[in-house]
Amino acid sequence: MVSREVVKGVFWVGALDFDRRIFDELIPLPEGTSYNAYLIRGSEKTALIDTVDPSKEDDLASNLIMTDVNQIDYIVINHAEQDHSGTLPLLLEVYPNAVVVTNEKCREILNVLLDIPHDRFKIIKDGDTLSLGDRTLEFFITPWTHWPETQLTYLREDQILFSCDLFGFHMATSDLFIADEAAAYQSAKRYYAEIMMPFRGSIRGYVEKVKHLPLLMIAPSHGPINRNPAFILDAYADWVSDSVKNEVVIPYVSMHGSTEMMVGHLTKALIARGITVKPFNLTRTDIGELAKALVDPATVVIGTPTVLFGPHPQVVYATYLANMLKPKIRFASVIGSYGWGGKAVETIAKMLDHVNVEVLEPVMVKGLPDEATLKGLDRLADDILKKHKELNIT
Ligand code: FEO
Repeated sequence: MVSREVVKGVFWVGALDFDRRIFDELIPLPEGTSYNAYLIRGSEKTALIDTVDPSKEDDLASNLIMTDVNQIDYIVINHAEQDHSGTLPLLLEVYPNAVVVTNEKCREILNVLLDIPHDRFKIIKDGDTLSLGDRTLEFFITPWTHWPETQLTYLREDQILFSCDLFGFHMATSDLFIADEAAAYQSAKRYYAEIMMPFRGSIRGYVEKVKHLPLLMIAPSHGPINRNPAFILDAYADWVSDSVKNEVVIPYVSMHGSTEMMVGHLTKALIARGITVKPFNLTRTDIGELAKALVDPATVVIGTPTVLFGPHPQVVYATYLANMLKPKIRFASVIGSYGWGGKAVETIAKMLDHVNVEVLEPVMVKGLPDEATLKGLDRLADDILKKHKELNIT
């Protein structure tokens, strides 16, 4: 591992985790991740911005050694989650005079999670500044990106925003800076969907605030550094907006082929009406890709067979997750089949209580889809087109 200079006197001292494949035992990490920490040398004081996941404490330690740092005066914690704060107890032992700089809510959570003593903290409020001599840190308290204690740290003289989770993405790469914006866009959109989408209402205000800062770089705590902040700020402005696209996402499971036939017919019917369609067979789907697909569409149609008396458990899981992520979808429906009855539609509709959707008339069939089923799917495609036209998105 090597530390690297971002600008003169500001060093990346984090850790790359090429092998990590899951986060929170939930989120797949096809590109690994990084835990970025940054060392800032001022003429009088030295500050470390965030730490690393405890599994990578050796990397942080060796990177700090390579910067020849003898003393750290301040350790700024932007977010209490352990992938950024977990090495704090070790650092406080190694640097006994270091002061933890964070907001009150973050202090509370760090106490609970890591048992950090009260007397090691300097508590900051929104807009507070901290001088390092010739450099100044300014703090913005930004709750719910994605925990209640999150904050941003802005290095004024160098116009760098240390945004922790916000504006980052899971990618382990030897590139210090984003090298491929198209690839970064896809990874950042997926990350936004998995982590930030439920909080888009709060994030909208933070994006506006950051847009008005003089800004040369955004240095997040996951993924490479962004030297074109407008790229990610414009992307976020689109994602957090209320505007939806002329798209239908169809997460589905099919046990004996009936639901798959229905999904196939509906997909063709929607394409014929000029609507973008993204079917996801949940037995073969990376759940992060499904989350990413939920950022834009106006409509979701859930396809399910009936297992015992309700939807397939994998459909229940995906519906639960989609509901928790609170995408800005406007319309939902259910299609699928049953053998002898059941309450698949009612169960799914009840699960969508976090999203404000209009439920369009479902299409359920007993056994194999017949002519009436296909007509029902054509009618559903017409209903979706009509609703999308009303939104002026076709
Ligand atoms: Fe990267 Fe919320 O931790």
